Amino acid sequence: MKDRMDEVLRRKAAALAGGGPERAARQHAEGKLTARERIELLLDEGTFEEMDALVRHRCQEFGMNEQVIEGDGFVTGYGLIHGRLAYVYAQDFTVFGGSLSEANARKIVKIMDLALKNGAPVIGLNDSGGARIQEGVVSLGGYADIFLRNTLASGVIPQISAIMGPCAGGAVYSPAITDFIMMVKNTSYMFVTGPNVVKTVTHEEISSEDLGGAMTHATKSGVAHFAAENELDCIMKIRKLMGFIPSNNQEDPPVIPCDDPDDRCEESLKTVVPDNPNKPYDIKDVIKAVVDHEDFFEVHEEYAQNIVVGFARLDGRPIGIVANQPAVLAGVLDIDSSLKGARFVRFCDAFNIPLVVFEDVPGFLPGSDQEWRGIIKHGAKLLYAFCEATVPKVTVITRKAYGGAYDVMNSKHVRGDINFAWPTAEIAVMGAKGAVEIIFKKEIEASENAQAMEEKLIEEYKDKFANPYSAAERGYIDDVIEPQFTRPKLIKALAMLENKVDSNPKKKHGNIPL
Ligand code: HXC
Repeated sequence: MKDRMDEVLRRKAAALAGGGPERAARQHAEGKLTARERIELLLDEGTFEEMDALVRHRCQEFGMNEQVIEGDGFVTGYGLIHGRLAYVYAQDFTVFGGSLSEANARKIVKIMDLALKNGAPVIGLNDSGGARIQEGVVSLGGYADIFLRNTLASGVIPQISAIMGPCAGGAVYSPAITDFIMMVKNTSYMFVTGPNVVKTVTHEEISSEDLGGAMTHATKSGVAHFAAENELDCIMKIRKLMGFIPSNNQEDPPVIPCDDPDDRCEESLKTVVPDNPNKPYDIKDVIKAVVDHEDFFEVHEEYAQNIVVGFARLDGRPIGIVANQPAVLAGVLDIDSSLKGARFVRFCDAFNIPLVVFEDVPGFLPGSDQEWRGIIKHGAKLLYAFCEATVPKVTVITRKAYGGAYDVMNSKHVRGDINFAWPTAEIAVMGAKGAVEIIFKKEIEASENAQAMEEKLIEEYKDKFANPYSAAERGYIDDVIEPQFTRPKLIKALAMLENKVDSNPKKKHGNIPL
C-alpha cells in the first residue's frame, strides 16, 4: 500500500518539477515566470485544481522515449477568479520549450470541452516553441483540434490569451480566434514567420521585438489588445478584465455594489467641449467624469486612438464604451478605428454587455489610401456591428455627428435605444463650409464679394444645422440634455433597458463584410 502511495507522490512531484530548477532559473533570468507561478497569480489563492498532471507523451522517435516528463509540459485545470469558475492552461517552456504535442493538445481540448459544457471562460497562458518537432503531423492535428474549439466557443464563453514568450507559426491562430490577446513587453512575440524566414524570403532584417513584440502588435497591427509592462501586470490585467464580463453568453455581466452616487452631477462637463468646434478635447475626460469612480478599463489603448473602447461601470453595472476621440485625427473614422470599434461592439453584444456611445465624429477619412485599402468594406463592419447588436444601446452626441458616421455610431435608425445630445451637438450631412461650397457654388462664383457671401452662407447653414434640434424635432434624438447630468441620465436609461429583449431574424450566420 505504501508503495502505491509513494508512486502517486513521485509522479506528481515529477510533474511539479517540470523541466527542472535550471530551466526554471533561466525563465526567471529572462524576466519570465514558470507556468505554475503564473497560474498561482492568476487564480484566487488556493483554488487551482490541476487535471492531467500525469499525462505522458507517446512519441518514440528521436530518443523521445528516454525523455518523458509527467504532464508533458502543459499545466491545465480550473479554479476561481473573483470567486467565479475559470479554466486555464499554461504552456511550460521548461519542458521541450513548451512545444505542443499530441498528448498536451488533448489536455487543452479536455478543459475547453469542459468549459463549453459548464459555461465558463478559458484563459490560455502561452509560452511555446510551437509544434513539437519530434512528433510531426500529430502535433499539427492537435493545433487544429484546438482551433476548432476556439471557433465553436467563440461568442459562447469568453476566451483570453496571454502571450508570455514565443508564439510563432500556425500557433498564433489559436490566440487570434480568442476574444482578447495580452502581450508582455520585451519578453513575448507573435509572428507567422520569424526574422530568419523573413530575411531569407524578403531580405529584410528585423528583430523579433520589432517584427512581433508587444508594442508592435499593440500599436501597429492591433493584434494585441493589451501590452503589459511585465508578467504580473499582464496577469492583473486579465483578472481586471474578468471582473467586467460574464462567464458565458447566457449570463449577465457581474454587478457590484456601487457607492458612487447615481445622481452625481459633473460640472466640469459643462465646459469640456471648446467654443471653437475645430478645437480638440479629450473624450476620456468625459468618460471618466461619467463612469463609476472614474474607473475606465481601456482596450486597445495604443491602437487606432481616434476611437476609444473599453469597459467601465455605471451604478455597478458593467458597460462597454465606444467613443470617438476628437483629440486624435479629430475623431475621424478610418479603417483601423472601424475594425477596432466593430470587434469591441460584437464582443459586448455576444456577452450581454450594454453599449454606451460617446459621439463626436466629423465623418469617414477621405483619400486614396483609405479607399484603396477598403474603407468601404471596413467601415461597413462597424455599421454592421451596431446594426446587429441587440444589447441595450445608448448614445450621447457631444459635438459632431456628420454624414454616414452619424448613422453608423449607434444612431436611432440602427436601433439605438436612447439617444441623447448635448446642446453643443452638430448633427448634419456635412460641415457648414463644405455644404455651402457645394449647394451655393454658382451663387458664390457669381458674387462680387465671394468671400463675404460664403461666410454669410456658412453662418446661416450653421444656425440651421449645427445644432441638435432638427434631429430632436424628428425624434432622432430622444432628449437634449445638459452635459452635467449625463451620468444620472445614462444610469436611468440603462436601468429602464435592463430587461430589454430584441432579436435578429433566424439565420445560420450573417455575412459581415470581411
Ligand atoms: C521540441 C523544442 C521546440 C519544439 C524548442 N524546443 N522548441 N522542442 N519542439 N518546437 C526545445 C529546445 O530543443 C530546447 O531543449 C528547449 O526547448 C528550449 O529551447 P531553446 O532553443 O534553448 O530556447 P530559446 O533559445 O529561448 O529559443 C526559443 C525558440 C527556439 C526561439 C522558440 O527554441 C525555436 O526556434 N524553436 C523552434 C521553433 C519552431 O520552429 N517551431 C515549430 C514551428 S512550426 P533543450 O533540451 O535543449 O533545453 C509550428 C507549426 C504550428 O509551430 C502549426 C499549427 C497549425
